Amino acid sequence: MLAAAEQALFAGMRREQERDTTPQDFPALPVIPVGRYTDPRFLELEERYLWKRSWLYALHSDELPRVGSFRLWRKTGSPIVIVRGKDDRIRAFYNACRHRGAPLVEADQGQTQGFFCRYHGWSYDLAGRLLAVREKRDFPGLDLACRGLLEIRCERLGNWVFINEDRDAPPLLEHLGVIPQHLANMQLERMRFIGAKSFDIACNVKVLLDAFLETYHLKSIHPQTVDRFLDSRGTYSVLWPNGHSVMATPHRRPDWKDPGAVGMPEVASADSIFVHQNVSYNVYPNLVTPISSTGIPFCLFWPKSARQMTVEVHWFAPEGAQDHELWPTRMANFERILEEDTQFAPHIQESVECGGFDGMCLSYQERRIYHWHEELDRRIGAAVPSELRIPRVLDAWVSRD
Ligand code: FES
Ligand SMILES: [Fe+2]
Repeated sequence: MLAAAEQALFAGMRREQERDTTPQDFPALPVIPVGRYTDPRFLELEERYLWKRSWLYALHSDELPRVGSFRLWRKTGSPIVIVRGKDDRIRAFYNACRHRGAPLVEADQGQTQGFFCRYHGWSYDLAGRLLAVREKRDFPGLDLACRGLLEIRCERLGNWVFINEDRDAPPLLEHLGVIPQHLANMQLERMRFIGAKSFDIACNVKVLLDAFLETYHLKSIHPQTVDRFLDSRGTYSVLWPNGHSVMATPHRRPDWKDPGAVGMPEVASADSIFVHQNVSYNVYPNLVTPISSTGIPFCLFWPKSARQMTVEVHWFAPEGAQDHELWPTRMANFERILEEDTQFAPHIQESVECGGFDGMCLSYQERRIYHWHEELDRRIGAAVPSELRIPRVLDAWVSRD
């Protein structure tokens, strides 16, 4: 991270700790209409304009260890196969044979030399080129070069692989804005994947995601865990273009160390803020990650239906620290906190559906949630039903650095 950016976060936390009113020019945030969490028309637009057209974290390159390693990835509803090619490049394709759409792979993960369709036997190489068509004599004029697998945008930040079904999306690194610069000293190329877990929760994806964009709830639902070491009154949030944001929260004691991580190897070059404070990024739309010098969890929020979602936690460790004996304890501690965060989600879902609740009434501290929704409206554009649209009030609060 640039020294100036780090200093700005430290200064921001100090200002938040010291203030006794909301910053003067901060606007009152309009209520976010509850229909944005429930209305089928809105959720359909969200699926079309957000989930099918965003850079989404898919996997770590360690999860495709060899040439021909593949994963079948269905998080957006589309069947997508992600594979490591002979040139070591990771590519993503629709898992759809270009003949009549049969699947190329059926297992969730595996190892293959190429793709062979079991319906009529067309075959493709790992780069998606159509190699052979059975009884080609009956396809006069078929140009094999024009029937290769349909590729999906697939780009990397370090070893983290993101995909995007929108062919016209700007490149991942451009979309991420200043975030790669913030993580520049974290030796991302040397972060290793150590494991992932997922939990199904009975709520709309946004109901749970909202909880990860603020620290206002720390005193109430994390009194025995997070609130003991984080001073949520000092949380400083920065809103960035494209919906991204960060929140930096000071530790109650500057020398505090996570007992679950004491003695774990650290990224030697990590910025001091990642050693001594809690800095949590939202990579829009659905990745929340508190960056630490001893390891990084990715919390990923996936819609399954209007009222069902999955939260996943993927863990990454600095090279050499993958097998440290503390990892099981550290992951279990994190899960305990996650349980605290999820406890009300199904009840909130009941509230948002009951017809007797009008919407989310947000404070200054919860402005990242409003920012998230502003970006969603920007993505959907004119199609947002007028009664569900939220006024843009945060433009002056969006920072370029
Ligand atoms: S659908 Fe694949 S060969 Fe026919
Ligand atoms: Fe929480």
